[in-house]
Amino acid sequence: MKRVIVTGGAGFIGSNFILYELKKDPEIFIVNVDKLTYAGNLENLKEVENDPRYVFRQMDICDAEGISALFDEFDIDTVINFAAESHVDRSISDPMVFIRTNVLGTATLLNIAKDKWSDGNGGFREGVKYLQVSTDEVYGSLGPEGFFREDTPLDPHSPYSASKASADLIVKSYYDTFRMPVNITRCSNNYGPYQFPEKLIPLMINNCLNHRELPVYGDGLQIRDWLYVEDHCKAIDLVVREGEVGQVYNIGGHNERTNLFIVNSVISYIHDNQDETVDESLIRHVTDRKGHDRRYGIDPQKIHDALGWEPETMFENGIRKTIRWYLDNGEWIDGVVSGAYQKYYDEMYRGR
Ligand code: NAD
Ligand code: DAU
Repeated sequence: MKRVIVTGGAGFIGSNFILYELKKDPEIFIVNVDKLTYAGNLENLKEVENDPRYVFRQMDICDAEGISALFDEFDIDTVINFAAESHVDRSISDPMVFIRTNVLGTATLLNIAKDKWSDGNGGFREGVKYLQVSTDEVYGSLGPEGFFREDTPLDPHSPYSASKASADLIVKSYYDTFRMPVNITRCSNNYGPYQFPEKLIPLMINNCLNHRELPVYGDGLQIRDWLYVEDHCKAIDLVVREGEVGQVYNIGGHNERTNLFIVNSVISYIHDNQDETVDESLIRHVTDRKGHDRRYGIDPQKIHDALGWEPETMFENGIRKTIRWYLDNGEWIDGVVSGAYQKYYDEMYRGR
């Protein structure tokens, strides 16, 4: 991979990925294509904004003309599609934007890449690759036993996960039909720096710091499989460079925790290191999420065996680093919890 379009590069995982790649690979050239929705934030990329190997373009991935022109302008050989509407609760209140970006946007990117990378003989140029960043939520929900494997049937429940599963099927069809060089990665819940405080961990950190109640959906015993974002970036880097074309790779850290465990971990770190008045009395059980998946758990054996990937950050260390980052980057949080976030928070949580 030399000349890469990273879509959604101003979001949480995309910006961590760009920072990681620019540190790792002196030869890489990255075009960050991001619409800058509420979730996109160029502050995440301040340290690389003048790097000659990096260009930002504000653009919608549904904009076929604009994307097509970028392929010509930069002679793109790799696409890594992070761009998405990513928050399950928002997909329950407003599904259509999820269908548009996650399904139509993916199809637009993929189809342009197919045309631009054609070798004129029904095949593809050497060295090109399209990587679709997907999610374990496409597999639905687990009972107490078992794990998601790459051959687990798709059974998404929320409009978000259904839109991601739809995108995966379109990507798969371009491999099955055209033998286009694609990969799909399906990762579990990420945490780390630059995550927007609508997601569980940064929302709880921000609320603790502001002595706000901590809204736990239902009984709080739902399970998620947490992965430190840098470990996810390393896995994507490996798949895009070395993954066998047409393959799906699950990415997860064998790190299953209940939501209540996560919330208590945040409380206890902040209590011990920042503000001893923060304690469990802030927890409030609120109305559960509609269609709430009970448990996610990834079996990462395939990516381990095929590419030698394994998570490096233990949860206890990752959560400390993450909370510390938010404590040290108060200006970043203040910047993102301004007017629009307050409105979102009130609509989502008031009277819940
Ligand atoms: P995010 O919401 O933080 O960022 C999404 C980015 O996409 C934002 O910068 C936004 O501006 C941009 N975007 C949205 N619509 C766009 C459009 N139409 N055109 C161009 N840009 C657009 O999301 P994230 O948490 O960083 O997730 C990135 C990807 O990883 C998503 O595809 C998501 O489904 C997937 N994923 C996320 C997690 C997780 O735990 N966060 C886990 C597994 C998979
Ligand atoms: O599993 C991968 C997915 O993880 C990604 O595909 C999604 O993009 C990402 O948003 C995430 O989805 P979740 O729904 O699991 O993440 P969220 O942070 O929204 O919620 C995590 C759990 O915490 C979930 O069981 C709901 C619960 N929760 C969440 C919030 C925001 C609460 O109890 N209270 C809250 O206020």
